[in-house]
Amino acid sequence: MPSKSLIITLLFCFLASGALADQCHECHNTSVFKVKHKTHYDYHVGYETSVHGLAGLGCAECHGGDSTSTDKDVAHAGVRENVMRNNIPAICGDCHESQYEAFLGSGHFQALEGERDAPHCATCHGSMEMDVMFVSKVKRQCLKCHDQDAEDGVITRTDELMSRVNAIVGYKSLVEADNDDPTALAAIEESFERLTLYWHRLEFDQADTESLELLGKLRGMRAEARSRQN
Ligand code: HEC
Ligand code: HEC
Ligand code: HEC
Ligand code: HEC
Ligand code: HEC
Repeated sequence: MPSKSLIITLLFCFLASGALADQCHECHNTSVFKVKHKTHYDYHVGYETSVHGLAGLGCAECHGGDSTSTDKDVAHAGVRENVMRNNIPAICGDCHESQYEAFLGSGHFQALEGERDAPHCATCHGSMEMDVMFVSKVKRQCLKCHDQDAEDGVITRTDELMSRVNAIVGYKSLVEADNDDPTALAAIEESFERLTLYWHRLEFDQADTESLELLGKLRGMRAEARSRQN
């Protein structure tokens, strides 16, 4: 989770950028660009409705380059290299420190370091069209490298965990809407953060325990709120 101060800084940059437009965005968003570079343009459209586009993040936050230049070659210095596979976790980690550090402890990071093919942040979250995942999409990603019937049960466990995470996210928003006890809500938030870290380290046992407990707690709080309303 990016810190509050980061979000405020970004918001400030976003508001202040009125006078100093992001030239990457300006040039990639023209109708000429759309006709000549359809695929790249579509990337851009996906970006605008992504969590990062909506938060007002500039292109250079991830790509580097010079976002004040209207000259393509000047603007582009390093933009492709910056988002190459092995650099991606560190770039995302600038703002999502806790997930990055958890990911460093996973077998996937070790595989990437050993120049083997393994998933990184953008494999699971998408890149420009960034979002938090959907259950079916996660499973599809895992199946690219892991076998459905393998003995370690990676796919089945992932599927079960993701369905539970989905239910947790749903219940969490209901409980947040009908509960105003700050201590209870803070405990829910802490548990959810722990769950996220277990998952990014691929610690299935801990993630299973935490998610079962959290879901039970949320269901209990929801039932309590409903009985109060009746
Ligand atoms: C003056 C227009 C212009 C500006 C300014 C501009 N771009 Fe581009 N960009 C292009 C065009 C045109 C392409 C299509 C490929 C090509 O012609 O090089 C492109 C391609 C790209 C690509 C794909 C790279 C590749 O190798 O195919 C990335 C990534 C990119 N731009 C990012 C950026 C970022 C980030 C900025 C700002 C720091 C930026 N661009 C500024 C015109 C621009
Ligand atoms: C949150 C980080 C992030 C931000 C912000 C971001 N991008 Fe990207 N972008 C990526 C990643 C990661 C890739 C995928 C690279 C890959 O798969 O090799 C990518 C891919 C691209 C590509 C396609 C490159 C290719 O060679 O196919 C273009 C073009 C591009 N970005 C332009 C932009 C523009 C223009 C902006 C601002 C409107 C922007 N990006 C903002 C992370 C970002
Ligand atoms: C310059 C800072 C910055 C960088 C770099 C960045 N992000 Fe983000 N990210 C944000 C902000 C701001 C938000 C929206 C606020 C929020 O929801 O926490 C966000 C939201 C997200 C979310 C949704 C979180 C949620 O709670 O809904 C995911 C997932 C995410 N980013 C992943 C990534 C990945 C993967 C990368 C690297 C390709 C990346 N981010 C790079 C700042 C950044
Ligand atoms: C691009 C290929 C690739 C994809 C996609 C992939 N993995 Fe892996 N995974 C690997 C490699 C390589 C290893 C390391 C195997 C080894 O060390 O023998 C690994 C190891 C693992 C391990 C055991 C190592 C550890 O950290 O304990 C688990 C669990 C795992 N992956 C789960 C997943 C899940 C869940 C997904 C889907 C979200 C997934 N993987 C997607 C390549 C991949
Ligand atoms: C193996 C797939 C996978 C990889 C690799 C991965 N994530 Fe995630 N990430 C997920 C899933 C699934 C969720 C949603 C469930 C959760 O929050 O625990 C998530 C959640 C998140 C969130 C939102 C947490 C929240 O509070 O809602 C952020 C931010 C994030 N990831 C950033 C990253 C970053 C940065 C990296 C790389 C260092 C990364 N992720 C690598 C699958 C992945």
